Amino acid sequence: MPNKPKKIALIPGDGIGKEVIPIAFEVVKKATTLELKAQNFALGSERYLQTGELFPEAEKKALQDFDAVFLGALGDPRVKPGILERGILLTLRFEFDQYANLRPLKLYRKDLTPLKNAAAIDVMFFRENTEDLYIGAGGVLKKGTADEVALQELVQTRKGVERIIRYAFEWAKSKGRQKVTLIDKCNVLTYAHDLWQRVFWEVASEYSSLEKDHLLVDAAAMKMVLAPESLDVVVTTNMFGDILTDLGAAICGGLGLAASGNINPEGLSMFEPVHGSAPDIAGKNIANPLATVLAGAMMLEHLGDNRGACKIEEAVVWVLEHKKVTPELGGMLSSTEVGEALLAYLEGKV
Ligand code: NAD
Ligand code: IPM
Ligand code: MN
Repeated sequence: MPNKPKKIALIPGDGIGKEVIPIAFEVVKKATTLELKAQNFALGSERYLQTGELFPEAEKKALQDFDAVFLGALGDPRVKPGILERGILLTLRFEFDQYANLRPLKLYRKDLTPLKNAAAIDVMFFRENTEDLYIGAGGVLKKGTADEVALQELVQTRKGVERIIRYAFEWAKSKGRQKVTLIDKCNVLTYAHDLWQRVFWEVASEYSSLEKDHLLVDAAAMKMVLAPESLDVVVTTNMFGDILTDLGAAICGGLGLAASGNINPEGLSMFEPVHGSAPDIAGKNIANPLATVLAGAMMLEHLGDNRGACKIEEAVVWVLEHKKVTPELGGMLSSTEVGEALLAYLEGKV
């Protein structure tokens, strides 16, 4: 009996998201043997500016029926920061309880890193994705006065911390990795990150085959530049994970290559590039689609097609090797031409 088609919700969103999603989805379709049924969700700035709608309930409900979400980016200079990001992107991560944000840092070619004498970089970041400063609790007092007070709450729960730490250890074990490193700021955040400390070492004691390590986030930032090869699997908080994975992208060739998966192991997961809507280059057909393409590979692996995921990675390695890339990587191709090069490789036409 043929397998049931996989339903993919496409949310291109804003800016370069609208350019890279169609390109990357063509590549995903070409690489996989799965039957994919895609439906477009027009969420983002255009809709918001025209109708005032951000993320209607009917669409949230409709998404429950999908096997995965493939998302571009949210954010538009015409809209106050936070409205689209919180109203759509964070709402997706939170409402679908996508608590594990997987962000691989992989140096595909030595010449892509700005670091001198870089060794191999192959790190998997597990960023907690539903708590911390991101929950949106807080407020302002005496707004607009000289005595104004702004509060933004950092919230961590035992359950939330434990599940991401356990997920990172389970992943590390299943992939035969060596070491799991916790990155936090327990020397200052003596309540919230003391919870991370206690839970990390408790869970760690169940994984005798893995090495465990701890870094304070400031030292970790330095280490990512000076000795990134010393990291293997990292588990960290929502905010630190956000910042450190942009740094991680920079040492591995830039945001044009950094992919991510927002995973709910029992529910709807979402795959997207790490980068944003890049208004500075939007509409020019020069955005690098490879980050989104690699997010597509993560999506295929999640849907059970490891072979398709590997084929996409091979195709990406091939375009990088042959300099069939966009200008920010020193190439001469447009976004769509990179997509065509990937398709040609996958069709065996090169
Ligand atoms: P950004 O990631 O959009 O861009 C940062 C820089 O990297 C820009 O110079 C951009 O041109 C470049 N860049 C990013 N992706 C690229 C690609 N694929 N190819 C080539 N160059 C690329 O970050 P920003 O400028 O700080 O944010 C712009 C908007 O995107 C904001 O509204 C922000 O809130 C939003 N944002 C959304 C997401 C998301 O949806 N996941 C992530 C980050 C930022
Ligand atoms: C990311 C982005 C988002 C985040 C923003 C746009 C809400 O920076 O996916 O890294 O901070 O998580
Ligand atoms: Mn970010």
